[in-house]
Amino acid sequence: MRWLSRRNGTLIISIVFGCCIIFLMNQSIHQLLTGNTVVTHVDYETSSKIGKAHSNRVNIVQDEEKADLYGKVRVLCWILTSPDNHKTKALAVKETWGKRCNVLLFMSSDADPVLPSVKLPVREGRNQLWGKTREAFRHIWNHYRDEADWFLKADDDTYVVVENLRYFLSPYNTSKALWFGHKYKAIVKSGYFSGGAGYVLSKEATRRFVEEGYFNALACRHDHEGAEDAEMGKCMQNLNVSAMDTRDSRGRGRFFPFVPEQHYFAGKITPSYWYWNNIYYAPTQGRECCSDSAISFHYVNPQQMYIYDYFLYQLRPFGMQADQRPSTPEPPPDLNLTAFPWFAPKEETTTITLSATNTTMADINVSNVSDVPSVSNVTEATDNKTKVVNKWKAVFG
Ligand SMILES: *[C@@H]1O[C@H](CO)[C@@H](O)[C@H](O)[C@H]1NC(C)=O
Ligand SMILES: *[C@@H]1O[C@H](CO)[C@@H](O)[C@H](O)[C@H]1NC(C)=O
Ligand SMILES: *[C@@H]1O[C@H](CO)[C@@H](O)[C@H](O)[C@H]1NC(C)=O
Ligand SMILES: *[C@@H]1O[C@H](CO)[C@@H](O)[C@H](O)[C@H]1NC(C)=O
Ligand SMILES: *[C@@H]1O[C@H](CO)[C@@H](O)[C@H](O)[C@H]1NC(C)=O
Ligand SMILES: *[C@@H]1O[C@H](CO)[C@@H](O)[C@H](O)[C@H]1NC(C)=O
Ligand SMILES: *[C@@H]1O[C@H](CO)[C@@H](O)[C@H](O)[C@H]1NC(C)=O
Ligand SMILES: *[C@@H]1O[C@H](CO)[C@@H](O)[C@H](O)[C@H]1NC(C)=O
Repeated sequence: MRWLSRRNGTLIISIVFGCCIIFLMNQSIHQLLTGNTVVTHVDYETSSKIGKAHSNRVNIVQDEEKADLYGKVRVLCWILTSPDNHKTKALAVKETWGKRCNVLLFMSSDADPVLPSVKLPVREGRNQLWGKTREAFRHIWNHYRDEADWFLKADDDTYVVVENLRYFLSPYNTSKALWFGHKYKAIVKSGYFSGGAGYVLSKEATRRFVEEGYFNALACRHDHEGAEDAEMGKCMQNLNVSAMDTRDSRGRGRFFPFVPEQHYFAGKITPSYWYWNNIYYAPTQGRECCSDSAISFHYVNPQQMYIYDYFLYQLRPFGMQADQRPSTPEPPPDLNLTAFPWFAPKEETTTITLSATNTTMADINVSNVSDVPSVSNVTEATDNKTKVVNKWKAVFG
């Protein structure tokens, strides 16, 4: 092979090397855009360098057909943060799960050119969170309404699996007035969602919030004070936005107001603990605590965020099967919003059996539980829910 001079050889090596770099860059750009691992079918048999020793197919996590929800279910994520957290918690969100959102915005009381953050016309402080939320949604509606289909609010210590959020939302119609999160039964009759677990509004819900709620003090609290999530709940109810069930078909939650260990090892379940007293649907524990398609956890500190990212997007058991989930998730048990809220048993218990879809009025005594919206006329409530049912029949067939 005399024709292959040293110079030509170098040239060929350079070209091959260059192509590799371009290929790798393409891969990482795709990853950056989709947040998904690109499936790579590397058939070692066809690669002469590696020879005949192995014939392995590397089949990672998701195939591209399922991963293409990025452009179909566009999610804007806005993070409720404050100047003290810009360089710590907010930065961790930006460097981990936040980059997988279609649009990522940090809402603060101060502008930060590095993060960057949006300076909202609010003061700082815990009792100003409702004001921040009002202003944040208004800013988003005015500037980004066409850039996303769904609008997620999360705290700077919420961790979100954005792919699972897209998967979960994919069968819903964003032109309907809907919102989703971890449901509580107190304060608001139809339930409201934990602020820390994060909640997501459809485009129609966002429109109502800004165009019908923002200036209407009768529907939505007009000043900046109040508990953010509860005020949001009242407002959404007044605007006829449905508080949907986000559990999977087996009744396991997807949005969580604590870190996974708190839900996995739930401890004693009694009505005396505010959480058990407020949770809307029956909780589950242990391996059944949380959906395989879980979406969010709260109280996740910055270091944990990087660890979650490592476990979810980098570490892989060798030979792991590709994703087996159906391309559309099974509907939740309470899609029709007809389930009665769950109440913690009076006796201390550490195990909860799944009965969420099967609670009847005989199991609970609503009139004996304080701080809970009363279901005064079951027939009427059921009739009201039937209207929702009819809306949703179309979605799931
Ligand atoms: C979504 O809802 C809107 C408003 O109700 C309706 O006009 C539209 O046809 C729905 N889209 C689908 C795909 O069902
Ligand atoms: C909500 O629904 C009720 C009853 O259907 C209706 O009277 C009210 O005008 C609706 N409110 C909004 C803001 O759509
Ligand atoms: C919702 O209600 C419809 C009609 O009442 C029923 O056929 C369907 O099974 C219900 N779906 C769920 C998930 O409860
Ligand atoms: C409720 O659950 C019990 C046992 O778990 C089952 O036998 C029964 O058929 C269920 N009832 C309904 C209405 O789903
Ligand atoms: C519920 O409790 C009230 C008193 O707290 C009682 O009068 C009522 O009979 C109870 N209802 C049922 C169905 O047990
Ligand atoms: C209502 O709850 C109170 C406090 O938990 C309890 O003492 C009382 O026996 C309950 N009444 C009924 C009817 O269950
Ligand atoms: C419950 O509502 C239905 C339908 O609106 C009505 O016919 C019935 O009288 C009501 N029952 C009570 C006890 O208020
Ligand atoms: C049913 O809906 C009507 C009007 O939308 C409302 O006035 C009534 O309070 C609702 N009833 C229940 C039990 O939710």
